[in-house]
Amino acid sequence: MTQVFDRERLIADAHTAMAQAYAPYSGFHVGAALGFADGTVVTGSNFENASYGLSLCAETVAAAQASQQGHRAGLIAVAVVGGPGGTPGAVVAPCGRCRQILHELAALGGTDPLIIAVGAQETVEMRLSALLPLAFGPANLEQ
Ligand code: THU
Repeated sequence: MTQVFDRERLIADAHTAMAQAYAPYSGFHVGAALGFADGTVVTGSNFENASYGLSLCAETVAAAQASQQGHRAGLIAVAVVGGPGGTPGAVVAPCGRCRQILHELAALGGTDPLIIAVGAQETVEMRLSALLPLAFGPANLEQ
């Protein structure tokens, strides 16, 4: 299973996904692109709700989309970009809930994906395990 991915393409796909954000309440548009070892890219954007707390983040939408499409193994990279009105500013890294959801998807294939948090001036890259140490996952339920 190859671990290479096209970093610039993944970032570009996250930008493209951000254009589909439904964020009328926060005005903060986010796009996420999940890169898989077989070259597949699955994207998502945030989908807000009039009951604000029910809003879905871009990474969560992308993870659910990947599962639905049968991509449950080989998650090797995740690019995230966002900003007010869809204009990137500070780097956007997955929120806590999304880190947990991405961990579930990654665990299914035993990978530790590179998280690429994109901003206007800088891009920060960290492994998911660094963003979510001692993660609780499927293995915990097998004891
Ligand atoms: N949001 C994401 O989609 N991903 C993140 O990692 C951080 C936050 C969304 C949720 C909400 O629709 C908006 O950004 C403002 O919090």
